Amino acid sequence: MKKKLFIETYGCQMNVADSEVVASILSDEYEMTEEERTADLILINTCSVRDNAEQRIHRRLRELGAIKRGRPGMLIGLLGCMAERLKDKLLQEEPALDLIAGPDAYRTLPELIHRAAEGEEAYNVTLSREETYDDIMPIRYAANGVSGFISIMRGCDNFCSYCVVPFTRGRERSRNPQTILSEAKQLLADGYKEVTLLGQNVNSYRYETADGTVTFADLMELVAQLSPTLRVRFATSHPKDISDELLHVMARYPNICKYIHLPVQAGSTSMLQRMHRVYSREQYLERIAAIRRILPDCAIATDIIAGFCGETEEEHQATLSIMKEVGYSAAYMFKYSVRDNTYAATHYPDDVPDELKTKRLEEIIELQQSLSLASNEQDVGKTVEVLVEGTSKRSEEQLFGRTSQNKVVIFPRGNHQKGDYVMVTIQSCTAATLIGTEASTSTKL
Ligand code: SAH
Ligand code: SF4
Ligand code: F3S
Repeated sequence: MKKKLFIETYGCQMNVADSEVVASILSDEYEMTEEERTADLILINTCSVRDNAEQRIHRRLRELGAIKRGRPGMLIGLLGCMAERLKDKLLQEEPALDLIAGPDAYRTLPELIHRAAEGEEAYNVTLSREETYDDIMPIRYAANGVSGFISIMRGCDNFCSYCVVPFTRGRERSRNPQTILSEAKQLLADGYKEVTLLGQNVNSYRYETADGTVTFADLMELVAQLSPTLRVRFATSHPKDISDELLHVMARYPNICKYIHLPVQAGSTSMLQRMHRVYSREQYLERIAAIRRILPDCAIATDIIAGFCGETEEEHQATLSIMKEVGYSAAYMFKYSVRDNTYAATHYPDDVPDELKTKRLEEIIELQQSLSLASNEQDVGKTVEVLVEGTSKRSEEQLFGRTSQNKVVIFPRGNHQKGDYVMVTIQSCTAATLIGTEASTSTKL
């Protein structure tokens, strides 16, 4: 009988995809459980992007330590970015931990688990220039059966001055397109209706083959051609190299979702320079204009950092004004958090007082609420195609799904189920949700 494995995942979608790879690597010996209390092995896949992300993991490890005391033989392991950042220091500081594996060391997990079970020191945080887990077909234990993630590249070479990711994930490398396509085909065969291609900066995807270079635009086209009923999404795009070529591919394929996550981070060129983002406000806005020109119905979302080093009131106002100018449909908004070893940590004082960071973040959030509402109000009266992901949390009678623009829609169940495409007429909205009813012309794709 196989032993039981419980995996808990924090951080970005890439961690979600990695946990599925880990489940696959361990599948000879372990099967997945949703019950942490009965697990033989608990793995926590962690994130280091901000201090509060790490504090949450420390609290969680204390809780798990209490469970472990009642279950002799249970092992607890830590994976992901925090493993890479804190390395063996964690084994000393967190008595509940038995093993540690960094993002490029998952193939060695069976051996690490064996060593930990023998009471030996078990950690591997070596980063690789080549590892992409190409040949491993993930086990999608937590997926909803409709929408799946595929990692197309690993690492990041951009070294934005505030960001820990290049240190925790190592150098950028792209995965063989053939293995990406076979994973997408497998998802289709398993009844999935949507794939999201993942990387920290998908636009710099590049793979050399005997027939030439495969760019991100080429890859998107190859995946989109697999089936017109398979929606294709991607995340995340760096504004410095989102190409017109990609936008034209998006325009040609109705099944490529009209949604771009294009993190701006800040609205002033001076701040963008300190952040090492390598684009100016004007260059960013030029890319937005290209999206509007080539993809008029595309929603644009962003990430914003409030209170980065040296931020003046004028720079903060420039962030608010670029948000209004673009009219983002959604945003992920954060207070700056110093990360050791980054350029910002070693070169700039973290000099915006915490109360001011909080105040600026609140202003940003409040503005985004009104922009999200305005964006949703524009959809009221329209009929949109919704891919159903499940039953609404609020009511058994309602289904929820997403539009191509990544907006959440709620509507009465009717005869539909998870995985259906339904044409829905939007009747009303909040800042977070569109509310509608099935259009009479509804077709099942
Ligand atoms: N590769 C993506 C972002 C990955 S990290 C990109 O370049 O856009 C996700 C988001 O976390 C970033 O976009 C940024 O807004 C935020 N972030 C990263 N480091 C941070 C820090 N030190 N403090 C606060 N927010 C941070
Ligand atoms: Fe971090 Fe910048 Fe890389 Fe994004 S592009 S992961 S923000 S270093
Ligand atoms: Fe976090 Fe690592 Fe992703 S730091 S955001 S889990 S790449």
